[in-house]
Amino acid sequence: MLTVSLSTSHNISHEAISSLEKTREKITTGEIPHLSVYQGIDINRILGLAELFKDAEEVWVLGTGGSRFGGEALCALAQPIGTPQRVRFFSNVDPWVFQELLKNTTNWGKIKLLVISKSGNTTETLSQLGQLLPYLPDAHEQVFCLTENPESVLGIFAKEKNLQLIPHDPIGGRFSALTTTGLLPAAIAGVNVGLLHQSFLKTFETLLTDGEQLHFLESLSQLWELYTEHKIANEVLFAYGDNLLGLGTWFKQLLAESTGKDGKGMTPILAQGTEDQHSQLQLYQDGPDNKRYTFISVKNHPILPAILEPWPGDNPFYDTTLSQVFRSYETGTRLSLIEAGRPCRQLLLENFDEVSLGAAMAFLTLEVMVLGPLLEVNIYDQPGVEQSKALAKEHLRDPVEAIIS
Ligand code: PA5
Repeated sequence: MLTVSLSTSHNISHEAISSLEKTREKITTGEIPHLSVYQGIDINRILGLAELFKDAEEVWVLGTGGSRFGGEALCALAQPIGTPQRVRFFSNVDPWVFQELLKNTTNWGKIKLLVISKSGNTTETLSQLGQLLPYLPDAHEQVFCLTENPESVLGIFAKEKNLQLIPHDPIGGRFSALTTTGLLPAAIAGVNVGLLHQSFLKTFETLLTDGEQLHFLESLSQLWELYTEHKIANEVLFAYGDNLLGLGTWFKQLLAESTGKDGKGMTPILAQGTEDQHSQLQLYQDGPDNKRYTFISVKNHPILPAILEPWPGDNPFYDTTLSQVFRSYETGTRLSLIEAGRPCRQLLLENFDEVSLGAAMAFLTLEVMVLGPLLEVNIYDQPGVEQSKALAKEHLRDPVEAIIS
């Protein structure tokens, strides 16, 4: 399912234990609603909603930040990189992208939109919907708006235009991957969301009650020691598997937006193996010692035919598989960092499947939740993001100034 290991063993610190206890207490008293929201997810309801998208050739998910990343990470299970993407995600308002989309789409009657915005007030998401709506022949049947607030711009607009409304679960955007926000796109794509949710919940509950499982507390102690004693506040997420990039992107937001408060926080850096070995590794290995490295990889790879080309010279490539090459490069990179004394940990998913991905997301979600009491910040808000949204709206009212400043 999931194995977590560290480059050097660490004593479990008192701070890590107490932070887990505080998180558990807040969850038990209901101050943090997360566990009960996760437990309350009705998978049959999600599968029923997914049925409404069955006849669409493509489903376009409009939404940004926490309204996108979880769903996209999960969809990779059913739509691996390199296969046609029936469920497509749009978060940007890049006019070039939308120009091509409008130009190249011919089957407008076969497209369905899932518009996700917890607040219902996010300008990018609303603009995307406004841009696409005129092209849809039967918007009532084709547009579904997932939002928490029926009195938001999106909620009111949906009612006025007779678009279908789906309630957002009562949980913050970036913590909502394993709720309707992420599970619905995943179910539409064909992921076994029941299994995924079950694995997530089981791991989350187990770690909450027994933090020594999966080296959870040890790993947290390593992180905390690096942060407090060595001022290491950068977390490199080295994903070995293109299908894991969605997981990395999801965690990048979760860690940054949750911890970055009051002058504190951890900076995530997403790296792709093996590509970034030829781009970032020199810096990681020999540059400033100010990062921790989390390798995210999968134990069981697809079995492809062995490569039997008679390469010239003395080299180890004859009769190898891509899987062996991939694994050797990951191991080589990890060992070279460990040899250079750089702190590493490995999150090894047994398979790229619902069970392992659910467990990994539970581990990482709880890790961020427990960082709240450790850092003494409110990990559940995002005042900086709200401020930028408000300022962007102000500038939109005065477009000339927006271009100049
Ligand atoms: O995690 C968060 O709360 C944010 O990143 C939001 O998800 C993001 O800003 C999008 O907001 P909304 O879902 O309200 O459109």
